[in-house]
Amino acid sequence: MEQVSIESLTKQYGTPCYVYSKQAILEEYRSYTDSFASLDHQICYAVKANSNLAVLSVLAQAGAGFDIVSRGELMRVLAVGVEGSRVVFSGVGKTYRDIEYALTQGIGCFNVESISELALINEVAKTLDKSAPISLRVNPNVDAKTHPYISTGLKDNKFGITHEEAIAVYEQAAALSHIEIVGIDCHIGSQLTEVAPFVAALDKVVELIQGLRDKGIQLRHIDLGGGVGVRYIDETPVSIETFAAALLPTLSKLGLTVFFEPGRSIVANAGILLTQVDVLKPTAHKNFAIVDAAMNDLIRPALYQAEMAVIPSVLPNAGIDTDGTKAWDIVGAICETGDFLAKDRLLSLNQGDTLAITGAGAYGFVMSSNYNSRPRACEVMVSDESHQLIRKRETIESLYENEVLWQD
Ligand code: LLP
Repeated sequence: MEQVSIESLTKQYGTPCYVYSKQAILEEYRSYTDSFASLDHQICYAVKANSNLAVLSVLAQAGAGFDIVSRGELMRVLAVGVEGSRVVFSGVGKTYRDIEYALTQGIGCFNVESISELALINEVAKTLDKSAPISLRVNPNVDAKTHPYISTGLKDNKFGITHEEAIAVYEQAAALSHIEIVGIDCHIGSQLTEVAPFVAALDKVVELIQGLRDKGIQLRHIDLGGGVGVRYIDETPVSIETFAAALLPTLSKLGLTVFFEPGRSIVANAGILLTQVDVLKPTAHKNFAIVDAAMNDLIRPALYQAEMAVIPSVLPNAGIDTDGTKAWDIVGAICETGDFLAKDRLLSLNQGDTLAITGAGAYGFVMSSNYNSRPRACEVMVSDESHQLIRKRETIESLYENEVLWQD
């Protein structure tokens, strides 16, 4: 990865280990800023995709804004020195405390998802004697054609305010004393490989912008939510350049600043998960390679039936090839049949080999857990010839340090 050998990383940091390329992150970020250079725009990286402070600081130094969904994510972004004004606050369940904290930090915009949230923001802002910048997240009822768990723009989904109600809710917002309307927001889902659903959602939002202008409600920005999907194995996602080319003709007529909240496309293919083959278990029906990463480290295959590529990265027994090429299920050591990382992969494996699961930079480490009392993996960043540990491997003791014995 970059100028660093995976073998040396494996030796120094052990496995399982997430590794991210700094240059790859910056390249994807710059594809967005270059593609939208003709417009006043702000790329707000979706922190949920990978919230390691090193990743955030690399993007902050490049000028990114941030999209957050919790007080925790906001604190991470502030911890790397980002001003609250460069942050948009998304999410369907903001609490009094979240709103209070965000307002005191000068948040750039709340993406509001319900009438009750709007009322709560107004109440908190009044108490703090502040004006809260808001946009409404509208749900355009457009099919994103992605996995149902990560599709968010359909009327059956919990997200946003329906297209039909949006103008009336904006009018309510305009009447509130401590609310300042600054934008409109929409996010229809993640891992979208086609551009058509983005265009359809934009058209629906533009209808609303015109309707709002007719009512005398002026906006400063339009936020089109997450970015494009990525290639994990054989997907052919729309490129960032084509995505921009499809949206620019409409966007450039609006006279508004354009926000995007890409997460996956910036970090997914900048990251790999390194794991070692601990046990080979060929059987009459199936061949299992039991590795030292598991569903607690990378839950995407178990949760979304996601298929991610597996590449042998270091072959300590290269040339011996005791097992030949077989179809292997790459599984973890957790006591669940759902604990798999990949199925039926043609590989020539030996015990002790290191495998790299690619596309693991997004929604990988952030979704990891301690299930089966497994410490979470370490994280490393590489840049050119250098590499740094950016999160220590957890110790087993730390897993129960907050627990207290029952006292009789
Ligand atoms: N903005 C909002 C309001 C979102 O809900 C999301 C993702 C994004 C932006 C970023 O979207 P992206 O550019 O990453 O597509 N854990 C799932 C993905 C969940 C996405 C949730 N929302 C996975 O591993 O596939």
